[in-house]
Formats: sequence, structure tokens, C-alpha cells
Amino acid sequence: MKLAIGNDHVAVEMKQEIKAYLEAQGHEVIDVGTNEPGSFHYPISGYRVAKLVAAGEVEGGILICGTGVGISLAANKVKGIRACVCSEPYTAKLSKQHNNTNIIAFGARVIGVELAKMIVDEWINAEFMGGRHGTRVDMIMEIEATQHLQAAEE
Ligand code: RB5
Repeated sequence: MKLAIGNDHVAVEMKQEIKAYLEAQGHEVIDVGTNEPGSFHYPISGYRVAKLVAAGEVEGGILICGTGVGISLAANKVKGIRACVCSEPYTAKLSKQHNNTNIIAFGARVIGVELAKMIVDEWINAEFMGGRHGTRVDMIMEIEATQHLQAAEE
């Protein structure tokens, strides 16, 4: 799989470990940074990964900051992105199966690297189930595209 990964200054070490873990499995990983210890604004890496995902240049994205919250909020402002924070593998798997997430995020101050690897594994290996879940994801994207949800306004 071709993936993009990004982080802020809090998560440099975890990002590098997750990137190496994915590459050892044969995945191609585009690293948008940061790899420097100095303070780095998480919206920059959230935006960079989101643009690569939205453009179809990668099949999915991984974002890591202190909590995963700020960086996922930034990514979700790019059209077409469905990013969520996961601190355990069950939600990560269901977020792909039911919500068709295209970016997974987590917090380097919240979880350890071994749990992060399990989260990433579950998310990468899960497949969107479509069907009734597809109807609901389409509704989410309708809100994004139109700022309305017809089913809620009838
Ligand atoms: C940086 O201090 C911290 O705010 C950031 O890593 C992240 O947790 C934001 O959501």
C-alpha cells in the first residue's frame, strides 16, 4: 500500500518507528515531516497528508501529534477527508469498515508505539463494508459538499 505519514514535534520518534514498521512490511510511505525536534505546527503536516490522500496520490494517511486531535481536525478541513483519532485497534478497524476513514490519527502522549502498530495494522487490513454504511458515509459527504443534509431537513 502507498501511504502518507505526518506528525508534529511531539511525535517525531513515534512517527519514525511507525514508518520503519510499515516499510518493513513492504508499504511505501511518504513522510511529510516533521523530523526536527523544534516546535512544529501540526496543521501543516495534517494538511500535507490530507492533500495527498484527497488527490489520490496515496491510499491512506497516518497522522500523529500529542493527542491526535489537532492534526485530525486540520486534515478533516480538506474536502474528501474522513480522519479520526483512535486509541485502540477495535475503533480503528470499525472506522474503516463502517466509516471508510481515509486517515487514521493517534496521540504520542496517549498511547505507546506497540499499541500504535496494532492500530495501524487493524486499520490497513480492514475493508469498507459499503451497504447501509455506504449510505451513511454518503450523508456525511453530502453535508461537506452542500452544508445541508436533505434527510434531516424533510
Ligand atoms: C502540542 O503541544 C500539542 O498541542 C499537539 O501535539 C496536539 O496534541 C494537538 O492536538
